[in-house]
Amino acid sequence: MLAELACFEQKCHATFPLTEAIYNCTHCGGLIEVRFTEARIDQESLGKLWRERRTSNRMLDQSGVWRYRELLPFDGFDQRAVSLREGNTPLLDAPRAAEYGGLDRLTFKHQGYNPTGSFKDNGMTCGVTQALRLGRKRVACVSTGNTSASMAAYASAAGLDPIVFIPRGNISYGKLAQALEYGARTLQIDANFDQILALVRVLAERAGIYLLNSINPFRIEGQKTIIFEMLDQRDWDPPDWIVLPGGNLGNTSAFGKALRELLQFGFIRKMPRLAVIQAEGAAPFYEFMQTGGEFRSVREPRTLATAIRIGDPVSWPKALYEVTESHGVVEKVSEQEIADAKAIIGRCGIGCEPASAATLAGIRKLTHSGVIRRDADVVAVLTGNVLKDPDYIYQYHTGQLKDPEGRLIEPRFGNQPVVVPNDTDAISKILEG
Ligand code: F0G
Repeated sequence: MLAELACFEQKCHATFPLTEAIYNCTHCGGLIEVRFTEARIDQESLGKLWRERRTSNRMLDQSGVWRYRELLPFDGFDQRAVSLREGNTPLLDAPRAAEYGGLDRLTFKHQGYNPTGSFKDNGMTCGVTQALRLGRKRVACVSTGNTSASMAAYASAAGLDPIVFIPRGNISYGKLAQALEYGARTLQIDANFDQILALVRVLAERAGIYLLNSINPFRIEGQKTIIFEMLDQRDWDPPDWIVLPGGNLGNTSAFGKALRELLQFGFIRKMPRLAVIQAEGAAPFYEFMQTGGEFRSVREPRTLATAIRIGDPVSWPKALYEVTESHGVVEKVSEQEIADAKAIIGRCGIGCEPASAATLAGIRKLTHSGVIRRDADVVAVLTGNVLKDPDYIYQYHTGQLKDPEGRLIEPRFGNQPVVVPNDTDAISKILEG
């Protein structure tokens, strides 16, 4: 669809062509978003077309992102999209997790089934395609791990040169390994995510490198399709709640925008409520929603859920708008709560990385406080694959996991490996016990 870039600030609304590489408004410094300049949508035939594409062998149709290209701002350039068949992630029923969370029923939309194992692929296919459209050769991001893994894969697939910046010692090995394997130049810095982002923005500007953090509006457009696909899978029947973890708050922005567009174009008749869950040691958005006033960043964010270890989330103004529009809530959860919820998701045969498990921990808190009703229709988005952070898993189950304060986390749902002798009778005895 025809679109333009626009300043997100209501009082500014400056507009820019889609082919301008900007991340903040040059007039007021506000965030940039994609805005459609036409509204000619035949919702019924589009819904049918999207469904038919699921049986097609064309790359664009098979992608769970580009299948919805009519609501993406590429207008023909999508024919040159770089795709690794992202999206197409399942909705999974999880009765055990529902019970733990205080719900009759709970469904997970598992973004960990993506090609590089996280929801970042939905956005990255669009971000890298935009880099191609702009004729850029080098792309960069700062990352707590998943963005860098995803960017490395898509940039390399597109023949571009990926440069990733990561906080040294603060990303999981699974994610670092991916960036290396996918051929990214990987620069580790002794600073946290927020500090490195400030630095990378200057570097990108200076060296003409295209920046692919979630401040990039084309990433947000791609992440909208997580919601498009979720609602398509539910035959456009919106749930009461959509629960997701909050770090830099790009996904919160994307989900809200997607829901508003689906409502505007008549795909859904009701707006689900967003519930954003943060880790206690990295919860600036939660604190802001509690107290109001000025937005205060957390200078030294701390959590074992390293994916969401972010103290100064760039997209908070968009997230504030989307949470407010959806009558949503923001909650925070402890390290123990995240670890236990994660083990429960594992016992459902599903599994996820720590940041994703904040969703179930948050649901448990929100049902206990009566914000979410037991009979509510809830979809929680699991953002990353279980194998992203195996160290965390092993330490939890063997009672060695310590929170950032050095306190042991209790393995309430621990599952210790047992050493047995190489002896059939002895093993039989143990199995009977
Ligand atoms: N879950 C996972 C697994 C993530 O990797 C991230 C963010 C989030 C949740 C939070 O999403 O930032 O949109 O609120 N990871 C980024 C990265 C920051 O660099 O990979 P958000």
